[in-house]
Formats: sequence, C-alpha cells, structure tokens
Amino acid sequence: MTPVPCLPENAPFTPEQRAWVNGFLAGLFSNANGAGTAAVHPDARPASRTATPLLIGYGSQTGSAQGLAKRVAKEAEKRGFAPTVKELNAVAPAELATLARCVVITSTWGDGDPPDNAAGFWAQLSADTAPRLEQLSFAVLGLGDRNYAEFCGAAKKFDERLAKLGATRVTTRGECDVDYEAAAKAWLEGLWPGLEPAETAAGEPVTGNQPAVTAPTKDAPTPVPEQKADSPKTEYSRARPFPARLKTNRRLNRDGSQKDTRHFEIVLEGGGLSYEAGDALGVVPTNCPALVEELLATLGFSGDESIADSGSGTSTIHDQLSTALVITAPPPAFVKEAATRSGSAELLPLLEPAKKADCDKWLFGRDVVDVLKACLGAKFAPAEFTALLRKLQPRLYSISSSPKAHPGEVHLTVAAVRYEAHGRGKKGVCSCWLADRVVLGETAVPVFVQKSHGFRLPEDLGKPVIMIGPGTGIAPFRAFLEERRATGASGRNWLFFGDQQRACDFLYEEELTGWSADGLLTRLDLAFSRDQTEKIYVQDRMREHAAELWRWLEEDAHFYVCGDAKRMAKDVDAMLHTVVETAGGRTREQATEYVANLKSEKRYQRDIY
Ligand SMILES: Cc1cc2nc3c(=O)[nH]c(=O)nc-3n(C[C@H](O)[C@H](O)[C@H](O)COP(=O)(O)OP(=O)(O)OC[C@H]3O[C@@H](n4cnc5c(N)ncnc54)[C@H](O)[C@@H]3O)c2cc1C
Ligand SMILES: Cc1cc2nc3c(=O)[nH]c(=O)nc-3n(C[C@H](O)[C@H](O)[C@H](O)COP(=O)(O)O)c2cc1C
Repeated sequence: MTPVPCLPENAPFTPEQRAWVNGFLAGLFSNANGAGTAAVHPDARPASRTATPLLIGYGSQTGSAQGLAKRVAKEAEKRGFAPTVKELNAVAPAELATLARCVVITSTWGDGDPPDNAAGFWAQLSADTAPRLEQLSFAVLGLGDRNYAEFCGAAKKFDERLAKLGATRVTTRGECDVDYEAAAKAWLEGLWPGLEPAETAAGEPVTGNQPAVTAPTKDAPTPVPEQKADSPKTEYSRARPFPARLKTNRRLNRDGSQKDTRHFEIVLEGGGLSYEAGDALGVVPTNCPALVEELLATLGFSGDESIADSGSGTSTIHDQLSTALVITAPPPAFVKEAATRSGSAELLPLLEPAKKADCDKWLFGRDVVDVLKACLGAKFAPAEFTALLRKLQPRLYSISSSPKAHPGEVHLTVAAVRYEAHGRGKKGVCSCWLADRVVLGETAVPVFVQKSHGFRLPEDLGKPVIMIGPGTGIAPFRAFLEERRATGASGRNWLFFGDQQRACDFLYEEELTGWSADGLLTRLDLAFSRDQTEKIYVQDRMREHAAELWRWLEEDAHFYVCGDAKRMAKDVDAMLHTVVETAGGRTREQATEYVANLKSEKRYQRDIY
C-alpha cells in the first residue's frame, strides 16, 4: 500500500494551509489505496479526507462579492468541498482548464464591466486564445444594481463565455440587486445539488480533475480562514449599522464656488468599529421630510395609512417613505404602472423596448413626484404604491482619515448633490441629509465599515506612492498621507489634486500645502480646470511630468486613482498608458502589458465611483 505523504513541519504553510494540503493528499492517496484504507494525517480535518476541490473566484470592487465568496466557501466546506477562494485576476484560464468545479461571484462596475480585480481574467477568458473548458462545471452569481442599464453585466459575460468555452452550467446564473442577501441565499440553495460529485457513495473519496498541489506563494489560493475561537465578534455591520454621532460638518469650498463639498467627522466611540486607511464607510440615510410630504400630498395620502413593513409588523406609510424606500429615482415597475393606470399619451409609447433610450432620456432628472405629476389619472392604494418602490440603500464614502491620526473617529469628504430639474429643486438623499439635516451630536447616523481589501498602501513603508485624487477623490489620500506620517513611512509621496477654481475649490488647502512644505508630500501637482481659458485636468499634469512619473514607476511606485469613474478614471488610465509609451519608450502593446503587470502586482489600485 502506498504510504500517505504529508507536509514536512518546516514547509512554508500556515496551519490552515497545512491542514488543507494534508487532507487533500490523504484524500488522493486513500483513493489510490482503495476506499477506507488510507491513514489520515493527524493535522487533517475529517471533511478534507473526501473533500472535492472547488474554486470560488470573485470579482469585487468594494468588497461585497469578496465577502460573499468567503461565506460561500465556509458553506462549501461544511458540505464536504475543499474550497479555494481567489480573486479572478489570480486565476489563469489555463488553470481553469485543469479544474472540475468553479463558482464565479462577481459584481459589475462602470457600464457593465467586471471590477478591476476581475478585468485581467476577463481579458484572457474572452480572448481567442482561451482554452476549451469541457471538463469544468460552473455556476455564476452576479451582484449588481438594477438602476444600471447593464444589470449584472459582468456576471452575464462570464456566464456566457464559460458556456461557450464548453463548460457545463450547473445552475442558472444568479442576479442579485443591491439588497443581495436574500437572493444570494436562495441561489445558493440551488447551487449545491448541481455541484455534487458524480460518485458520492459513502466512504468513496471523490476524484475528478484535481488541481496540482503547489506550495502557496504570495498570490496562491487563500484557504478559507478559520474563525478563531477568541476573535472578537463584529457586532455592527451593514445589516446592523452603528448609530454614530456627527461631530463636525465643515464646508471645504469657499465663497464663489459652484460646489458644496463637506468635511464630516463622525465619532465611532462605543461601536467597536475599526477601519484602515483605504476602507469606505457605509452610511444609511433618511429621506428629505419636505419631499416625503410633497409625495404624500401628490398621492392624496395623509401619511397615517398603516402598511406591512419589511419585518413582521406594520408601520405608517409616512415612516416607510421616510426611512425605508427610495422616493427619488423612479423604478421601472412604478413608471410602467403609473403610465398604464393613467393611460399617459406621453409616457406609454416610451415603454416599448425599442424606445428604451428615449425613455431613459425622459426619466433623466425626474423623481417619483415628477412621474406622478405626468401621470395624473394614476391612482394607487398605499400598500400597492409602496410595493412598487425599492428599498433605500446605504451610500458608501471613501474614508478620509487614518485611525492612527484620529482614534475613535472617522472622517468623510462628501460632495452635496444639488440640482434643478423639471422645475423642481433636487437633492442627493445621503449627501444632503448629512450636510443639511443631521444635527451635530444628536441625530443618530447609522454607519458600518466596508473593508476595501484592494485599496491599500504598500506594506513596505519605503515604497513611493503616486496618488491621483481630484475633487472628492482626495478623500482616501488624506487618509493615506496621515497614515504615512503616523507610521513614519520613509517612501516618497506624490499627489495630483484638481478641481474647478484654486481660490475656492482647493479642498484641504492648508493641510496639503503644509504637508508639501514639511516634506510629507514630496510632490504636489495641482490642476484647476477653470482658472484659465483652456481646461486643465490631472491627466494633463501627468503628461507634463511624464518623465518623472515614469522614473517613479520604475522605482517601484504604487499608483492610486480615486474619484469619478465615468470620465476622470478613464482619462487617467489612458494617460498612464501614454506615459509608459512616451517616457518609457514602449510600444502600445508593451504599454498595455506594463499597466496590466502593475495591476497584477497590486501596484495600480483604484477606488472609483
Ligand atoms: C466606493 C465608493 C466610494 C465613494 N466615495 C465617495 C466620497 O468619498 N465622496 C463622495 O462625495 N461620494 C462618494 N461616493 C459616492 C456616494 O456613495 C454617493 O453616491 C453620493 O454621495 C450621492 O449619493 P446621494 O444619496 O447624496 O445622492 P442620490 O440620491 O443617490 O442622487 C445621486 C443621483 O442623482 C442624479 N443626479 C445628480 N446630479 C444630477 C443632475 N445634475 N441632473 C440629473 N440627475 C442628477 C444621478 O442619477 C446621481 O446618481 C462613493 C461611492 C462609492 C461606491
Ligand atoms: C460606479 C458604479 C458603477 C456600477 N455599475 C454597475 C453596472 O453597470 N451594472 C450593475 O448591475 N451594477 C453596477 N454597480 C453596482 C455594483 O455592482 C453593486 O453595488 C455591487 O453590490 C458591488 O459589489 P462589490 O462590493 O463586490 O464590488 C455599480 C456601482 C457603482 C458604484
């Protein structure tokens, strides 16, 4: 009988990795030796003996899909799988071709695009050179937001491409809206039967296409972390936010500005919440009372009408419209119902699928009240109306403080959204709640920390960092700079900041110029778009300093971008390629490869929205 090998004590593995590998080897060798005859290494957990390898690949920008992937792995482990959790960029399609089972969990960003940590994988999977995957059974779960035209676009792409490459779909693609917990749970119930190995007779170890066992490297699969018995329980979370208090609400723009950007300081004491520079804070807002009243009046409701709430009880429609439902952007189901019930000659023709672009144009800037006013004949019973609305969601904000510089506090840099459309003033739900209505020290501000595992300063304090953060994109870089000071990091720091006018829009001017003077900031390059006739943006400053930028990149600098995803981040990405081409003397293809390498080395990280 073949002896069962196990890892030597000095092999470079964590206890969890050691247990996994030993269990895996035990399973393999018990199969070679005949069922039930293998000796199992004492380190191996019993489940590992017959565990079926399962890759769980995630694409996640702000951590939701990543968190879900880890939870799915825990569940998989309980069901006898040996799960491996990896971000998709760390999975080569050639590796997929050696696997039997894989679950992809991905969010969607941009306009139907994969998140940054899945974009490289998608580029390879969609290429003509991608391998056939006939031996692979797969399932895809998407996290998205129905407000976007390409709802769960990335999940759709992965699902269709994997099937096209010959892989077998074990269950229908899951598509979850922002409130994803219940939908994800329901999808998972249907996942497991399809993934079960063909041979599961008692005592029969499962074989199939086992992945090669290699020593974990820095980028190697992360075995599912064990919950340490003594690890503190996170009491507050997205599902149970901490009622914090606001300490400071300061306008960062000066008179003459067209913007209203606020610096908020929130006290976290008593919540046990902890964060790191690079994380985001989730804030659960309340709707504007004046808008709630306007909506109730338009509907002809008093506000006291009682309806079932999302729990098991009832509450008044006034309370639900204030705290639980979206009353700004009108959801498609409501628009359709309002148009149909009123027989609106203006709106009904726009509901044809072929007229979607016209319908979106019509809806732009309109809220629920605007739609009701355009559909005057539409009548709703209170519960009928609320059933057509969507659940109010928390907003995320990049944290602009380091916990080392401000223990017990978290700072945010928030642009208050205010605009006029269709004859009525409109306000961003959360930004204006924080800016206008939260009373310092009194109003409860429900918050939770959203870990951003992908947006972190280099561990090596000597590495240089380049930060591109115009507008509110400055937020995490204020946190990074505070962190670099607090940790005594010796690495150089280069910040590109931009906004409209220097006189009134230079956010955190005193801090930034102070850090520039005392040397924390090695370089500070500013781009104020409206201070001259031609517009100047941060990407123009990058071009001007291409040679120096290239030198920093070649000296192992980490490159960070935060802020507007629609235009700024795309323009900065294009300029980064140009810098590599022009200052680095690379061809276009070589520049693409250079930037892709920066990403895979985690030296190009983005926090964009
Ligand atoms: C990871 C992450 C980090 C973020 N960090 C920050 C940050 O540091 N600072 C920050 O300020 N924001 C940040 N945001 C954005 C933030 O989460 C909110 O989206 C933002 O504050 C708007 O929310 P709101 O509730 O105030 O506005 P909402 O009620 O959500 O309204 C905003 C919507 O109004 C519409 N709108 C806006 N202007 C117009 C107009 N002129 N005409 C017609 N329609 C219009 C658009 O549809 C827009 O999406 C971040 C987002 C993410 C995902
Ligand atoms: C800037 C931005 C763009 C987004 N684009 C889309 C999109 O095109 N389609 C979609 O379904 N969801 C879109 N979303 C919603 C996210 O996919 C959703 O919030 C998801 O739960 C985030 O998961 P993550 O934290 O794992 O990245 C977008 C969100 C933001 C902030």
